[in-house]
Amino acid sequence: MIFINFTLSLLYIRRALSCFIFHPPLLSTLPPFLTKRLNYAEPTLHTRSLSSSFSSLCLNSSQWQPLSAPKAKSPSFLSPATSAGGKKAQRRSGGIRCSSEAADEAQVSVLTKAKIPTKLKAVVTINLTIGGIFSHVGMTRGLDDFADLMGRSLYLELLSKEIDPKNGSERKPVGAYAHKIGNNTTEAKYEGEFTIPQDFGGIGAILVTNEHHKEIRLKDIVLTTDDDEASSFTIDCQSWVHSKFDNHDKRIFFTSKSYLPSDTPAGLKSYRDKELKALRGSGTGERKPFERIYDYDVYNDLGDPEIHPDNARPVIGGSKQFPYPRRCRTGRPKLKSDPKVEKRAGNFYIPRDEAFSEIKQAQFSAKTLRSVMHAVVPSINSALVDKNKSFPYFTAIDSLFDEGLILGDQGGNAGGAFSTVIPRLIKAVSEADDFLLRFEIPEMMERDKFSWFRDEEFSRQTLAGINPLSIQLLTEFPIVSKLDPKIYGPAKSGITKEIIEREIRGYMTVEQALKEKKLFILDFHDLYLPYVNKVRTLENTTLYGSRTIFFLNPDDTLRPIAIELTRPKSPTKPHWSQVFANSWDATGTWLWRLAKAHVGAHDSGYHQLVSHWLRTHCCAEPYIIAANRQLSAMHPIYRLLFPHFRYTMEINALARESLINAGGIIEGGFSPGKYSVELSSVAYAQLWRFDMEALPADLIRRGMAVEDPTAEHGLRLTIKDYPYAADGLLIWSTIKQWVTDYVNQYYESSAQVIEDPELQAWWAEIRNVGHGDKKDEPWWPVLNSTDSLIGILTTIIWTVTGHHAAVNFGQYHYAGYFPNQPTTARVNLPVEEGEPADRMTQFMIRPENELLKCFPSQIQASVIMAVLDILSSHSPDEEYLGVGPEAAYAAEPAVQAAFERFSGRLKEIEGIIDGRNLDVGLKNRCGAGIVPYELLKPFSEAGVTGKGIPTSISI
Ligand SMILES: [Fe+2]
Repeated sequence: MIFINFTLSLLYIRRALSCFIFHPPLLSTLPPFLTKRLNYAEPTLHTRSLSSSFSSLCLNSSQWQPLSAPKAKSPSFLSPATSAGGKKAQRRSGGIRCSSEAADEAQVSVLTKAKIPTKLKAVVTINLTIGGIFSHVGMTRGLDDFADLMGRSLYLELLSKEIDPKNGSERKPVGAYAHKIGNNTTEAKYEGEFTIPQDFGGIGAILVTNEHHKEIRLKDIVLTTDDDEASSFTIDCQSWVHSKFDNHDKRIFFTSKSYLPSDTPAGLKSYRDKELKALRGSGTGERKPFERIYDYDVYNDLGDPEIHPDNARPVIGGSKQFPYPRRCRTGRPKLKSDPKVEKRAGNFYIPRDEAFSEIKQAQFSAKTLRSVMHAVVPSINSALVDKNKSFPYFTAIDSLFDEGLILGDQGGNAGGAFSTVIPRLIKAVSEADDFLLRFEIPEMMERDKFSWFRDEEFSRQTLAGINPLSIQLLTEFPIVSKLDPKIYGPAKSGITKEIIEREIRGYMTVEQALKEKKLFILDFHDLYLPYVNKVRTLENTTLYGSRTIFFLNPDDTLRPIAIELTRPKSPTKPHWSQVFANSWDATGTWLWRLAKAHVGAHDSGYHQLVSHWLRTHCCAEPYIIAANRQLSAMHPIYRLLFPHFRYTMEINALARESLINAGGIIEGGFSPGKYSVELSSVAYAQLWRFDMEALPADLIRRGMAVEDPTAEHGLRLTIKDYPYAADGLLIWSTIKQWVTDYVNQYYESSAQVIEDPELQAWWAEIRNVGHGDKKDEPWWPVLNSTDSLIGILTTIIWTVTGHHAAVNFGQYHYAGYFPNQPTTARVNLPVEEGEPADRMTQFMIRPENELLKCFPSQIQASVIMAVLDILSSHSPDEEYLGVGPEAAYAAEPAVQAAFERFSGRLKEIEGIIDGRNLDVGLKNRCGAGIVPYELLKPFSEAGVTGKGIPTSISI
């Protein structure tokens, strides 16, 4: 009833207003903003060309024309919006965009010189969004329409940069309502007018109060004096603004001028501090979806044993047993049965502006990933029924690409709906209620279907595959474990001098090979061995510790020469270990293949849990949280890092929800099963060091490079044709140069770095809280100079760009055909001591069966392939490194020039990498049927391309 009455009221008001339109004399009796609205002929709006006017953004008093001055030309028609989904979408507190060197400073002084109060107009652009205002019907929509009509839905307050010299306090803000003047299909415009006092000073920020009942997505605010287009400047907001009915606090948007804390204009100091305080929150209560609070928590929401006892998982992070980086705090209720564990029900909160753009949500990654996990995966499970069933023949694996898998409808999701969301996977609809899951042929299989079977490809991928971060130089012999021999058996490896010298056919002695840096190792012994007995209690999986030795050929290719698989003793079985080598006899060759399959699974687990999840996604989250809590939006380092942090918190929340959770995709498809995340914690404890996340340091630590001032990038590679390292150093050096130029623009001396309280608080919080389980390690860089700042920033940016791209976007190319990179190895070798006797019998009759039984089951393979397809995809609105400078960069000509050099160099690198991939002398990246190494090529098209370095981790 209330709604009907309200609707009638609205109709009455509209009808009344229409009378004014048709009775011009009455028009003059209306408030100016209403007459303006009614005179608005089209439901479209005008906006300024941002770039055109900023060269004249010297808003000094002489240029601020009185109201009687000639009007500017009619502004151009509203350009198609960067919708709410534009990937540059979310931002904290925006900035003014301008192109004039002196623009921002100049506009400070303009108003101070004004002799009379100056009129200022603000045009606010709001993205029309799926979830925001204008998106709904019902009571609040009606109220919001009414508020819009009355011009009281958006209240703006201009803040002066200056304090009042008379009393030393901040000047009173100048406020006005902005009233709606129209909208098109993507944007709505609001306009407000301000009268600026003569002694107001430059505008440093705008406060926004959203009086709608729903949040709005604020794109920008264009300020113009007296309709003089040449005077306009834009505050780039790109942020969600909560409704005042949810939170009374006003939102602040600063200009694009970056300030170190010590340079903050006096009038903005308290606002700078207050904004950071709000972003830090109180550390209590459950976070609500509209909030922007950044806080820390441990990984205590991976499983809920109250839903099922099998879902109990230990808390990861915050203990000596399971150290880990922190995640974003959600504040959800804890379990009654275990107050240390957070309930998984409800919202996986992330701060509002960290959410995926609506393009991403509506069209791509997030939705497709959710579709795969919530609908396709159950469909696969239901269609294949037997979760442990192996592929009966290799041709059955091929049929996933040729014929596909018919899946029934699950929960009303007809194939048609899936096929629009994931067209690469859903090829055709067989019937109304069924759909066909058919996979694209992975690049590696397309080029050479049999390469996965060969030793040279097995080796090549340690240098140019999706996990090029595990291979290391063997520097000591014999190989010795660091584990306790009382528990885990003999420390000394079974790979003897005799075995190696036999396998290299007397080419040289082991001593010579070590001296000449010819021996390399994939060492998955100490990490996995403590988990072997635990994993072996799980169904449908097994585990070994493994060591694989490679010999470096004169042409820079590697040859695998020995694999050692080890089982520690258990209550029921003794320690067992065996060394395998390739052989000229059939039995030996098949055992070698089985051993390689196990190493492949170990490598897959390390790749996904350590090289990918832990070292990029997971370790980056504390950098993001700390930046938002400690660095003001007007801090230059915040603005440098901001584009590199976009969407990472959301993809990480999605990972907690469905990938790394109890019973999730990772546990279901990888050898360590429910111990997967625990293992990544062990890797964090044993291996992770911030200083070693820098590419050069990582290469040196693994013996893959040595410092050499005469070499390019100051490093000489141990294997010159090491594609990840060779291309990675190009990207690393280019990032470092850009960061150096940027830092030098804002810090004139190391003292300024030391004395910057926000910067020091940011770094201290990363060490002491976000990575607090490692806070006492001696290797943390000390932030006491511009050089150390450049090193820290380059390391962070490399981690979330080059490093992540190298391990992420080739996943389907290389692991889409799972025999090449099986995520799990499910059965022990038939020769393992204590295996049933008939296993060896069956192996001798049909060894291929043993390999197929060892590979992932049909369900595991299908699910992982579907997920890897999505994870390897670039979204249509992907932003690549060096593309599209931030508004704040454009505001500083020296920074803009440095960014253009950065961007230009990345384009050059494209060509350099293309050239390398055509060089037949580089056999690890160029050869018959070989997938060229493009994972560190900076740019890409949308989709699964195996190349492209996005600006941030968003998938
Ligand atoms: Fe990723």
